[in-house]
Amino acid sequence: MTGLPRTLARARTPQGELALRERVADDGATVHELIVNGAFAMDSAEVASELALGDTLAQAAGPDGRVLLGGLGLGFTADRLLRHGVGELVIAELAEPLVAWAHAGITDRLGRVAADPRVRLIAGDIAEELTAGGPGFGAIGLDVDNGPDFLIHEPNAALYGAPLLRAAYQRLVPGGLLAIWSERASPALAERLAALGRADTVIVPVHRDGHAIDYAIHRVRRAAGHPAE
Ligand SMILES: C[S@@+](CC[C@H](N)C(=O)[O-])C[C@H]1O[C@@H](n2cnc3c(N)ncnc32)[C@H](O)[C@@H]1O
Repeated sequence: MTGLPRTLARARTPQGELALRERVADDGATVHELIVNGAFAMDSAEVASELALGDTLAQAAGPDGRVLLGGLGLGFTADRLLRHGVGELVIAELAEPLVAWAHAGITDRLGRVAADPRVRLIAGDIAEELTAGGPGFGAIGLDVDNGPDFLIHEPNAALYGAPLLRAAYQRLVPGGLLAIWSERASPALAERLAALGRADTVIVPVHRDGHAIDYAIHRVRRAAGHPAE
């Protein structure tokens, strides 16, 4: 990596400090970094798994489908979903400043996502959307932490527990898909999803800073013909 990161914006949130930084990589590319509560949440240098999450959600929702996404981050998954042609995308993002920065177009991608007429960008906890009533979603994606075994926000532990997973499952239309990003496969999460329906785990192998990493996307599909409860 060349050059020190430059802070584009920072803000205090109830969950700690949020910062969006920019640096120039060895190949001259501009890289954005999101730092949440002092922890590295993600950067734009390697986003294969964020894009894979968008692909699997879009495929499940189908053309013009409705998708609920937890965690805006740098907007890669959301942007991918929009490029696939989803009809409606509801995004819940816990960090209110990030929502404001997206509306202000702090990066081209975040600005594009926030301005898309198919997007409803909510500053709030995805847990509230999962438990709210309303029409079902063709796909629901969660990418809010480094995974169930490496939480950035401790309260997010509940998102990976059986009651909220069941709530998420019940917000799916029949045949809909719940997909959860994790920095490594979590057998305990896979087991909880398998208790709900047809579950599997997709491994996305990547190379980062000279290391091979197997990111995981845990999925469960709601049975077709299984009406919303
Ligand atoms: C790793 S980033 C998401 C990356 C995103 N998939 C992308 O493509 O850029 C995680 C995001 O989830 C947000 N977040 C954390 N906990 C949340 C929660 N309970 N509800 C909604 N958003 C949350 C964080 O503020 C952060 O913006």
